[in-house]
Amino acid sequence: MKPKIFVTRKIYTEVLLELKKNCEVEIWDQEDVPVPRHILEEKIPHIDGLYCLLTENIDKKLLDEAKNLKIISNMAVGYNNIDISAATEKGILVTNTPGVLTETTADLTFALLMATARRIIEADRYLKEGHWKTWSPNLLTGQEIHGSNLGIIGLGEIGIAVAKRAKGFNMNILYYNRNRKHEVESSLGIHYADLNSLLKQSDFVCVLTPYTPETKNLIDKEQLRMMKKSAILINTARGGIVNENALYDALTSEVIWGAGLDVFEEEPVSLKNSLLALPNVVVLPHIGSASLNTRMEMARMAACNILQALNGEVPQNLINKELACT
Ligand code: DGY
Repeated sequence: MKPKIFVTRKIYTEVLLELKKNCEVEIWDQEDVPVPRHILEEKIPHIDGLYCLLTENIDKKLLDEAKNLKIISNMAVGYNNIDISAATEKGILVTNTPGVLTETTADLTFALLMATARRIIEADRYLKEGHWKTWSPNLLTGQEIHGSNLGIIGLGEIGIAVAKRAKGFNMNILYYNRNRKHEVESSLGIHYADLNSLLKQSDFVCVLTPYTPETKNLIDKEQLRMMKKSAILINTARGGIVNENALYDALTSEVIWGAGLDVFEEEPVSLKNSLLALPNVVVLPHIGSASLNTRMEMARMAACNILQALNGEVPQNLINKELACT
């Protein structure tokens, strides 16, 4: 009998066909509508594998209903949507999709940095709405990018890829990370700083760290107050790392100059979120990894992880590695 899997969103046909060769596949196929919780609850006791997205909250309560579940394959590099310790306790493997989205997410991070600093979105709107009357010395003046100080919070693969792009702009790069990375420091010519020094010195602060209980509200009122008045905060990691109320206050009282956000505490962000009304904020709907190629690679990798696990192998991108030895 083929193992049963549940796929929580319509994915690429090619990937689905591969899964169907080896498994009995059920899919929640409503495009752009996350699977309702009650459907997940209904499916979870009967499946061997779950192929899910970051929109699904895989918590302990849900996992308590799992009877045969062996693998949760998350089609994302971040996995804060999954209670890893609850899964581990139950012997359920959890996998993610690292690597394949690194460069694409770094591209987007840099694009957002540039769009915010040079007011690209505002300028586009200004022109299209017919406000452009003449060239003017003060028209839509922004912040310098080249030669400025970039502070990277979280020097994982994406942080390193952002640093490489910043080198091309002759930026001075500081980073803050749980562990120092001496080799990267010398190969890229970047410098370690503690969080407070990084915040004080940076013209751009890029948040690229995973979202964990330790990084929740890592950037709060106190941290924002340390930043330069001319500084720009970029967040392409997870919304909860930056306290949005504190950020709103900082942006409206000229504590910092601007922000570029691809992620929010609540997603999709409410149109009533006051950050959306600010001209000095560029917002995106969590599209860091959204290129056709990368999304396809992520989908393939997530499929490969689930198939390896259901085949009794240790999946390539296992997060709860302690289960590899059991
Ligand atoms: C991830 O993978 O965690 C990103 O947030 C979406 O690609």
